[in-house]
Amino acid sequence: MGAPSAATPAAELDLPDLSWIDDPRLGTEERRARMGAVAADTWIARNPFGYSILHYDDVVAVLRDKRWHNAVGRLMELNGIDNPEWLARRRTSILSAEGDDHTRLRRLVGPAFSPRHADALRPFMRRLVDELIDGFAARGTCDLAVDFCEPYPIPVICELFGAPSEDWKLFSNWATEIFKIFDGNLQRDMPTIIAAQDELDAYVGDLIEQRRATPSDDLISALIAAEEEGDRLSHSELISMCNAVLMAGTDTTRNQIGCSVALFAGHPDQWALLGEQPELAARAVEETMRYLGAVRGTGRFASEDIVYRDVLFPKGTFISPSLAQANRDPAVFDDPATFDIPREPPDKPQLTFGSGIHYCLGAALARAEQQEALAILARRMPDLELAGEVVWKPATVGIFGPRHLPLRFTPGH
Ligand code: HEM
Repeated sequence: MGAPSAATPAAELDLPDLSWIDDPRLGTEERRARMGAVAADTWIARNPFGYSILHYDDVVAVLRDKRWHNAVGRLMELNGIDNPEWLARRRTSILSAEGDDHTRLRRLVGPAFSPRHADALRPFMRRLVDELIDGFAARGTCDLAVDFCEPYPIPVICELFGAPSEDWKLFSNWATEIFKIFDGNLQRDMPTIIAAQDELDAYVGDLIEQRRATPSDDLISALIAAEEEGDRLSHSELISMCNAVLMAGTDTTRNQIGCSVALFAGHPDQWALLGEQPELAARAVEETMRYLGAVRGTGRFASEDIVYRDVLFPKGTFISPSLAQANRDPAVFDDPATFDIPREPPDKPQLTFGSGIHYCLGAALARAEQQEALAILARRMPDLELAGEVVWKPATVGIFGPRHLPLRFTPGH
């Protein structure tokens, strides 16, 4: 599609340069302050891949514009991965599908991810949270990232799938191995990654066959039964969907809870409030996700020439809508640099679950997981404080959170 001549090609704009964004020496606060200063002056800046979109309304506008396609399908390319064996195994998932293919998938699977289905797992979540805390409560110290956040989401996904709970370690290992794709040493890791992917596919394939024979009330049975106007998911779509859920629902949730508790450790009054008023858990989740989201941004590329705000983005242009910066936009959130869990819910939602057609499919589940975890942690560890330095994962990669979160608290609750 041709662009009106009034539009200025993005490459010709005089924009601030965010080339420092990948500098691992920058601390979280300094990166945030610098981004905030840039965003005060402009809605768009240049970054090493393309352009960062910095204001709330623009982030929402581009995420809702279907001409911008999800860059997840091009992640390997963007990370310099060109191994033909791996590229040949690439398949379309709900994250990378666009247009009618994506609409069809969302219609078929959406009902299985409703808040009602997520709520049914809350008793399981509560038991799990208590068991994990029991593992360190008597010590009065823990590394919350390792002892709690790491093991928490996988048994929930197993329960969601209807897989036997004793198999959660298998899922955990597969997820860890498959995530090695982003470790930058594919030459070394490729055989492990491929083996894990094959084992996961075979396991899920067996589960699907079992549920076809004997349906239950789990996600896999719901996905098998999902039907709209005679349309159903194929066997390989079912496998791909389960893969997407495991990969999208694990690291996100564990890192978000890590971010949230680290944040609360610096705001003991807010933590005490949550411990006393567990009914604040839902607001606490929205406010922690707004203030310190584990998914700081996402990626899109122009599927055709796109003109937005009189700027021409030629086909193929890569943009990074900054969810973290949008969540601090003073045009939407009063006093955005203040962390305040009872704050009046804003008119517009926090954006750490994204927006538009790729809006997080697991948002209801992720909300329930966080609400249960934060409410119980606040009740059982009301006086937690940092027992050492938080070691953060690099802020530059897609999912951000503490690698180590050493805490101390009065033992025994
Ligand atoms: C706190 C935890 C989570 C966060 C912060 C999060 C964040 C996100 C974001 C930002 C997106 C959109 C990505 C984009 O537009 O490029 C997304 C999509 C997705 N999420 Fe989550 N997520 C979380 C938990 C989960 C869980 C628990 C599940 C599974 C049960 C899940 C499954 C998915 C799926 C399947 C998609 C793709 C949806 C689509 O492309 O249509 N997520 N998530």
